[in-house]
This record gives sequence, structure tokens and C-alpha cells, in this order.
Amino acid sequence: MLTLQALVASYHDAPLFQPLDLHVERGEVIAVVGRSGCGKSTLLQLLAGLKTPDQGQILLDGREIAGQAGHASLLPQGYPLLPWLSLLDNIILPLTLSGHTQASAAALAEPHLARFGLEHAKPLLPHQASGGMQQRAALLRTFLHPTELMLLDEPFSALDAITRSELHTWLLTVLPQFSKTVFLVTHDIDEALLFADRLLVFVRGSIQVIERKATEKSAILTMV
Ligand SMILES: Nc1ncnc2c1ncn2[C@@H]1O[C@H](COP(=O)(O)OP(=O)(O)O)[C@@H](O)[C@H]1O
Ligand SMILES: [Mg+2]
Repeated sequence: MLTLQALVASYHDAPLFQPLDLHVERGEVIAVVGRSGCGKSTLLQLLAGLKTPDQGQILLDGREIAGQAGHASLLPQGYPLLPWLSLLDNIILPLTLSGHTQASAAALAEPHLARFGLEHAKPLLPHQASGGMQQRAALLRTFLHPTELMLLDEPFSALDAITRSELHTWLLTVLPQFSKTVFLVTHDIDEALLFADRLLVFVRGSIQVIERKATEKSAILTMV
């Protein structure tokens, strides 16, 4: 589905990592792990078309998409909801921006609200909702985007350990119900091993591709 060929990205002429080659099959979950500042969010911005690579190609089903937005849904790092919109209005914002009426966008979201535990939370403003609810709303917004490629930038890192663990269990049941190919950036090796088919591990400027099944957690911890 997705092929990265000799991909290079830099800020101020300093490349963040050695040229990256990767082929991703439809439906794969790729975890991206590495220290702060190694370039994980930049990689997602390249895949989302929000940053143009310095060199190399990004091919989606054989078509070059480097520098073009709209081929992937991105859940950005940090606090991704707009504080002045209700959870429902946050969820449907990309749909209304792409031309849906409020009513038709809400109708697309409605069947998923129960599965995301949000039926009673939809009128709440983000500050009135728990951290877990906010992240489930942000995840539903990302899932509803019609593209197959989904990019999640540390979606659980702002949550307390108990909520994070609950959301892990929940997402493991939800993910197979959508046909998505996922890049999941995480600091948490356990989270990476829980979800991923393969791991991209940033190690001192190079990116190692590791099959999860052949991987011991301790081996990854010694790399990063
Ligand atoms: N817009 C930018 N301009 C200049 N440098 C940036 C910019 N965004 C990120 N960087 C730098 O690029 C490096 C990689 O950043 P980032 O991709 O956010 O890393 P990560 O997500 O792994 O923490 C960091 O050193 C960061 O300071
Ligand atoms: Mg980041």
C-alpha cells in the first residue's frame, strides 16, 4: 500500500535520519519508537503531506504523494481538540470542513459514539470531559476520516497509567473493526509491542525496522 524510498527529511539542512526505505502492507500497524527529538513527529508530518521531504519518495498505491495533504488522517501530538467546540463538533469538524452539513456529519459519527463510549459525552466541552474521553473523541475524529492511512502521534501519552491501560484494551477491540493502516508513535515499548506488527526504532540517526514477533522488549530497550 505505502512505499517509502530513500526518504530524507531535515530542518536547516541537518538530516534527521538516514535515508528510510519501507514497504507497508494494507492493514499493518507500524509502531514508531525513539527518544524525544529523534524525528518521529516529523515522519508523520511527511506521511500526512504537511512537510515535504528533502529527498526520496512516498508512494501510496504507486502514486507519489509527498507534499500532498489529504491522503492520511493525523491525530497530532498534545491536546488535539479545539477547546471551544463540543466533543461532537470536534469529532465532525474535518467532515464539515470537507463539505458535509452539520447534520450529515453528525449522522456519520452517530453509529460509532457508543463504541467510543461517547454517547452521553457529545455535548461536553473538552475541559468538562475526562482525559480518556477527550482522547477517544480525538481518535473517533481520526477514524472517521475516509482515508485508510491513519497516523497517531503519542495518542495516550497525556493519560494516567490506569486510563491508558483501559484505552489499550478498548482500542485492541476497536481497531480491527475499521480497515486502517496505522502508524502509531509511542514512547511506551509495551504499547508498541501490544499493537504493532512491526516497529520502526530510531537509533542514533538511523531507523531499524523490526518484526514484532521476533522481538524481546529488552532488545528494543537496549537500542533506544
Ligand atoms: N518546525 C521545526 N523547525 C525546526 N526544527 C524542528 C521543527 N520541528 C521539529 N524540529 C526539530 O527536529 C527534531 C525532530 O523533531 P520531532 O520530529 O518533533 O521529534 P519527536 O517527535 O521524535 O520528538 C527535533 O530536534 C526538533 O527540535
Ligand atoms: Mg513528537
